[in-house]
Amino acid sequence: MTQNIKPEFIPNRGAGKQLYIETYGCQMNRGDSEVVVSILSEYGYQYAEDIAQADVILVNTCSVRDNAEQRIWGRLNEFKIHKKRKPSLLIGVIGCMAERLKDELIEREPIVDVVAGPDAYRDLPRLLSDAASGARGVNVMLSREETYAEISPIRLDKNGVSAFVSIMRGCDNMCSYCVVPFTRGRERSRDPQTIMSEVKDLFARGYREVTLLGQNVNSYKYGEIGFPELMAMVAEVSPLLRVRFATSHPKDLSDRLIECIASHPNICRAIHLPAQSGSTRMLELMNRKYTRQWYLDRIAAIKRAIPDCAITTDLIAGFCTETEDDHQDTLSLMNEVGYASAFMFKYSERPQAYAARKMVDDIPEQEKIRRLNEIIELQTNLSLENNRRDVGKEFEVLIEGESKRDKEYLCGRTSQNKMAVFPGKGYKAGDYVKVYVDDCSAATLIAHIVE
Ligand code: 5AD
Ligand code: SF4
Repeated sequence: MTQNIKPEFIPNRGAGKQLYIETYGCQMNRGDSEVVVSILSEYGYQYAEDIAQADVILVNTCSVRDNAEQRIWGRLNEFKIHKKRKPSLLIGVIGCMAERLKDELIEREPIVDVVAGPDAYRDLPRLLSDAASGARGVNVMLSREETYAEISPIRLDKNGVSAFVSIMRGCDNMCSYCVVPFTRGRERSRDPQTIMSEVKDLFARGYREVTLLGQNVNSYKYGEIGFPELMAMVAEVSPLLRVRFATSHPKDLSDRLIECIASHPNICRAIHLPAQSGSTRMLELMNRKYTRQWYLDRIAAIKRAIPDCAITTDLIAGFCTETEDDHQDTLSLMNEVGYASAFMFKYSERPQAYAARKMVDDIPEQEKIRRLNEIIELQTNLSLENNRRDVGKEFEVLIEGESKRDKEYLCGRTSQNKMAVFPGKGYKAGDYVKVYVDDCSAATLIAHIVE
């Protein structure tokens, strides 16, 4: 088992070496990169912000769609300049693409020295040490237990206000389009005591927002403790600590979870609930385990209990056999729910997934693009409408820092996870302020501080 490797058996090759890490894909990967930096720092590696300084480059990769992988191949090609300049430079591919392609990565791309899957990060010190002696290495063993429970991640997001806390890993759902069960393995939940000590430590260090992360965050279960219990424990650390979570599966969005959110003002009024499609026929082919009506009933339950909750989603256009009627069902679902925002994709066939093995990717590319564009256009209008309803209202905002566009402005999020920008002399990151919304775009609320 990779997690049994004892540090003393690995030559300490990291001392003084500069480690640069680039992260693609979902928030889980961002959380994992922080774990990886923590593991390697125990062996003397130092985190470098500048790639030109690097002795080791790690790319934490995503396989969810083909274009995510194509980007990584392009990036590996660009790293060749650095390797030419510094032949001792080591390059590692980690994460989902490492898991999916295994040895093929090393065979296809000679500049790759190390390949490590999402459950093999404790083995990175050994893999890098071997690679420094010229032995390229692969560890893509998946585990049923690994949660990196006791590792204290080194925060790479420098705002010092919000942090990711990984609480479970893997996915047992087997949606037919998805490669994640093959790259991330089976579901397993992290010991709540280690989660609580990580959260308490973050709060003591000035962090004011934690996002509990998992591929299927709301199927968290550790002994008697389910996701609502865990969220309540985290929320009770302090009323000044905001709690978010991602990503949830509609099938596990229980009434208890809704009640838990409703009864804790510091659990944010924002639920990301990927629908994928508005057509029951498509949902069945996708193996989503719910119907359109069941999904809409969950939405109604959320709206009843938490009227000010923002609901966001993921949607896929052009899955196998999708008809114009199915597509129209997705558009009408979007209108019915009134999503605050959405991540929207066209279907990309993934070799290991069930659909690639058993179904035909039969919607022409041009048609997928047309449907996706219609979905995007509708969502832009829905986001704008949704934001317009906030104009003239007050919201509590947690300040994250200066606005990227204009240094005179600060930015921060509302509980609904909407970004607000406002002039804010005298305030700093981590402060809570009440703002009044004067105007908006589809992406941002424009506001001023009232208190
Ligand atoms: N093609 C397109 N989108 C996909 N997603 C997952 N797999 C695929 C695929 N094969 C989308 C889903 C998921 C999000 C993370 O990525 O919408 O919720
Ligand atoms: Fe991409 Fe999914 Fe892996 Fe996240 S878990 S990096 S979205 S393939």
